[in-house]
Amino acid sequence: MAIRSVVQNGDEVLRKKCFPVEEFDEKLWQLLDDMKETVIKEEGAGLAAPQVGVLRRVAVVNVDEGYFELINPVIIAQKGEQTGLEGCLSVRGMQGEVSRPQKVKFTYYDRNGNKCLGMAKGFFARAVCHELDHLDGVLYIDKAKNIERV
Ligand code: CO
Repeated sequence: MAIRSVVQNGDEVLRKKCFPVEEFDEKLWQLLDDMKETVIKEEGAGLAAPQVGVLRRVAVVNVDEGYFELINPVIIAQKGEQTGLEGCLSVRGMQGEVSRPQKVKFTYYDRNGNKCLGMAKGFFARAVCHELDHLDGVLYIDKAKNIERV
């Protein structure tokens, strides 16, 4: 495993739409292992592949409910609304208020290519939505109100 450097806002890689994963191979596992090491070291709630310069639909989420590897994730249902503070490892030293669904239901593939169903609420749902936005080139600062330095 290796820690990868996190791309910062302003780099165009963060603004591209990512391609689906088609091969569940060792290259994917290496990426996932590196993303895990990186998000833990950076103490992030999640990390998306474009943040380490890889334009693939891969994200990890690191929350109280556990550690999740989401490959080709798609939100299939959402409910309610919550507004809260968000930050991002690619927008260092800032936070802002973002409205997100209170609950989301999503499909994704695990690292072995098995299709899975996920449910998340509260901060977990917020983290899933934030990371999925990255896969379409969207940053939380595009949606946030009251962005401030921390
Ligand atoms: Co982010």
